[in-house]
Amino acid sequence: MPEAISYDALVIGAGPGGYVCAIRCAQLGLKTAIVDKNPRLGGTCLNVGCIPSKALLHSTEIYHELLHGAKKHGITAKEVSIDVSALMKKKDGVVDKLGMGVRMLVEKRGIEILTGTAKLLGDGQVEVSGEEGTQTVTAKEIILATGSKPVELPFMPYDGDRIVHSDHGIAFDSAPAKLAVIGGGAIGLELGSVWARLGSEVEIIEFLPEIATGFDPDVAKAARRILGKQGLKFSLSTKVTGVDIGESGVTLRAEGPKGDVTFEADKVLVAVGRAPCSDGLGLEELGVVSDKRGSVTVDEAFRTNVEGLRAIGDLIPGPMLAHKAEEDGVACAEILAGQSGHVNYDLVPGVIYVDPEIANVGLGEADAKERNIPVRCGTFPLAANGRALATDATEGLVKVVAHAETDRLLGIQIVARNASELIASAVAHMEYGGSAEDLARTIHAHPTLSESLKEAALASDGRGLHSL
Ligand code: NAI
Repeated sequence: MPEAISYDALVIGAGPGGYVCAIRCAQLGLKTAIVDKNPRLGGTCLNVGCIPSKALLHSTEIYHELLHGAKKHGITAKEVSIDVSALMKKKDGVVDKLGMGVRMLVEKRGIEILTGTAKLLGDGQVEVSGEEGTQTVTAKEIILATGSKPVELPFMPYDGDRIVHSDHGIAFDSAPAKLAVIGGGAIGLELGSVWARLGSEVEIIEFLPEIATGFDPDVAKAARRILGKQGLKFSLSTKVTGVDIGESGVTLRAEGPKGDVTFEADKVLVAVGRAPCSDGLGLEELGVVSDKRGSVTVDEAFRTNVEGLRAIGDLIPGPMLAHKAEEDGVACAEILAGQSGHVNYDLVPGVIYVDPEIANVGLGEADAKERNIPVRCGTFPLAANGRALATDATEGLVKVVAHAETDRLLGIQIVARNASELIASAVAHMEYGGSAEDLARTIHAHPTLSESLKEAALASDGRGLHSL
């Protein structure tokens, strides 16, 4: 039997957590390999998540704007139509290009790419089974970065046709006449927006009293009102409990605030969260400890309870976000190389890429109050921002939450076009321990949407210049 190839670090899973971890390991001089069953690296984010959904959101925003926004600019757009298969081709092209880019980044670092399914055998050994057969490799350190998968409602198994999850929801061949979306989180709102813009009648059914859990309730409410004006319908405080699938459609049964209700749909997109993905890895055989949600338990150095086995990204507790996984990957690699890698989990920004985008970092007002932290808040409506007025981006607001005594910034919430970009300066201010006063005194170019952050900071001290 040939001797197993041995590495310093073997990363299992090539999503943003895994491939970034592998790159950082290689940069730090570790002999590194990465395993993924998909020859196109990039994981969920690149293949079926963040990237394809953003491509679809962008294309459908253009379509929507041509249909509904062109006229007021004096633009006549005649016979505007959409070819869904061309739209999908464009999205697939983006995914292909980025996939090739990631592979090149990994290969250029001298990282060995192993295509196949990995199974832990113990004692640093991993079996990789692919099209070319099965091989065993060994590593001093194994990093699990296998990500997450859509949660399935127990009474509603996915069939890929009527009952679908996000992987299917980015690839319908036409817009369903009626799309019911279960879950008003990031996936439900983003894909709901895509198909609503393409003509579907979209109903978002959310168990909680408000959409976009994790965001300040008044910010989420503002976002819901704006999305409502775009045609999305919402049923809040409504728990889906059953389904009947017929020849011509689906009937959902649910418990609403006023009693039992039903929803008719052609397709149902279930977006009720994601669960860690550890099937077939051999974790139980090795006695790897997980919590009741299936998240692998790790310490601050990403160590599991098994010697030489670490885990990062969606597989461990914390927000299931690509950028959080990347930071885990970098910190884990640095720790492996003897450095002091660290992630500030208090400042992981969250974004929902609808129009306008919804973004936040740190605590909302309600979170702070729940923790008995005294706060001073300032809000600024985009309607009072000159650039927003000039570019049809007046929907939304910025809310700054500062400590009432120290003025330290505790959180920033944004509903605005490009909120995903605007939130970066909020994160930077907070990362450096900035106060609302620091933000208020930072010069922002005029005219920009970013001035709304400065104005919200000024408003937290009752001295807004462009709002009353
Ligand atoms: P989510 O956890 O964000 O939202 C799921 C929603 O479904 C919750 O509000 C929950 O109350 C509701 N729900 C659960 N069971 C229900 C039922 N029976 N009836 C009605 N409502 C029910 O999950 P989502 O949107 O599926 O996203 C999964 C993960 O992927 C999240 O961690 C999310 O942050 C991440 N993600 C992030 C994106 C981004 O950063 N833009 C985009 C897509 C996903």
